[in-house]
Amino acid sequence: MHDTNQSAKPWAGRFNAPTDAFVEAFTASVDFDRRLYRYDIQGSIAHATMLARQGILTEAERDAIVAGLEQVRARIEAGEFEWSIPLEDVHMNIESALTQAIGDAGKKLHTGRSRNDQVATDVRLWLREEIDTIAGEIRRLQHALLDLAEREADTVLPGFTHLQVAQPITFGHHMMAWFEMLERDHDRLLDCRRRLNVMPLGAAALAGTTYPIDRAHTAALLGFDRPAENSLDAVSDRDFAIEFSADAAILMMHLSRFSEELILWSSAQFGFVELSDSFCTGSSIMPQKKNPDVPELVRGKSGRIFGHLIGLLTLMKAQPLAYNKDNQEDKEPLFDTVDNLKGSLKVYADMMAHVSCNHERMREAARQGFSTATDLADYLVRKGIPFRDAHEIVGKAVALGVREGRDLAELPLESLQQFSEAITDDVYAVLTLDGSVAARDHLGGTAPNQVRAAIARARQRLAD
Ligand code: ARG
Repeated sequence: MHDTNQSAKPWAGRFNAPTDAFVEAFTASVDFDRRLYRYDIQGSIAHATMLARQGILTEAERDAIVAGLEQVRARIEAGEFEWSIPLEDVHMNIESALTQAIGDAGKKLHTGRSRNDQVATDVRLWLREEIDTIAGEIRRLQHALLDLAEREADTVLPGFTHLQVAQPITFGHHMMAWFEMLERDHDRLLDCRRRLNVMPLGAAALAGTTYPIDRAHTAALLGFDRPAENSLDAVSDRDFAIEFSADAAILMMHLSRFSEELILWSSAQFGFVELSDSFCTGSSIMPQKKNPDVPELVRGKSGRIFGHLIGLLTLMKAQPLAYNKDNQEDKEPLFDTVDNLKGSLKVYADMMAHVSCNHERMREAARQGFSTATDLADYLVRKGIPFRDAHEIVGKAVALGVREGRDLAELPLESLQQFSEAITDDVYAVLTLDGSVAARDHLGGTAPNQVRAAIARARQRLAD
């Protein structure tokens, strides 16, 4: 950063004293908003194009501005651009460099515009692109889950409620639950994008501008669906940022829940899955350790992303219309949310492609937990016993199993029959794990053929 003197500030005209040096640094945003340079230049090129079309700029001025902005962009991308703190932000840095490069025509770029509508436009253009990238990463993770679900459609593990073994399920079914969570996340982001894709430019500082601008034309050039209806709302609205942050928070909450399960499942006590070595790290003191750092870190990162949502809501809650400098504080939480969300999704999509399942451990855990007790109750119901009575009978059988350290399927027929004469030797067919999962054979159920059907429908959805 190099210092330029006070007279270089575009707004210096009405000031008699230079800005306090600390205030200058305190109010500047260029250290972080320079990240928006590409969108700032894109917006400026569209604005200048519209101004020339309306006869507000000459074609020669427009051409000079467009060429000058492209040259500034090339300098930024080559790392040759010197960002200046006295020039406050990305907008004034670029405009000032443009004027230095092309002279007076550069000073006309800001005609009919304000940094207030400019920054709101830049952030929307940037976030729109990031949403598209994030949506693509969600799809990549969903594809990895579909592949895993397909490989493990028949794999039996215990399903849990209250983290106690409940009923046997298939691993493919579990992965498809994650898939559905991500499907809603994807849908929410596209919905957010639809409301975001409205153009603030033309609102100028807050009230509109006296020039005969054509906002619809600028909007079309920038790929916006339409110009914002109200100039006050256009410069002050950050709903799209809050909405995106809420969507990001829900998505991170999902990844954090996935993480919790992977961390448990990869522990020695569960031993259901193994994460690839490439996604784990060791301990500097305990030679035996292989830690699930990636899921742990993703679970941890959910915290800061929830925090950014609350930060943005708080940022906006007491702001009167229209633009206030408070809004400059929207960028860092948004940038941090996007970076960490993209990183978490990327690492998850890569990691889930390399998860291996320990079929024996999962089956054993399901076998040990009386997970087919409901199947026994359903069996008794089919023999004419009311469900509540059946529940009681099975409860007693489980108590016996607990005392003897045996699963229901391991209790001899005579033992089972002491609780109900309706039990005959066909009972063992329903007490098997494979029989139990196969019996839940309806849309949304855990039966392997239902899982395969769900995968096929999901693949079709993603292809459409
Ligand atoms: N850096 C400012 C921001 O991020 C740009 C808009 C400044 N507008 C103003 N009137 N000071 O919000």
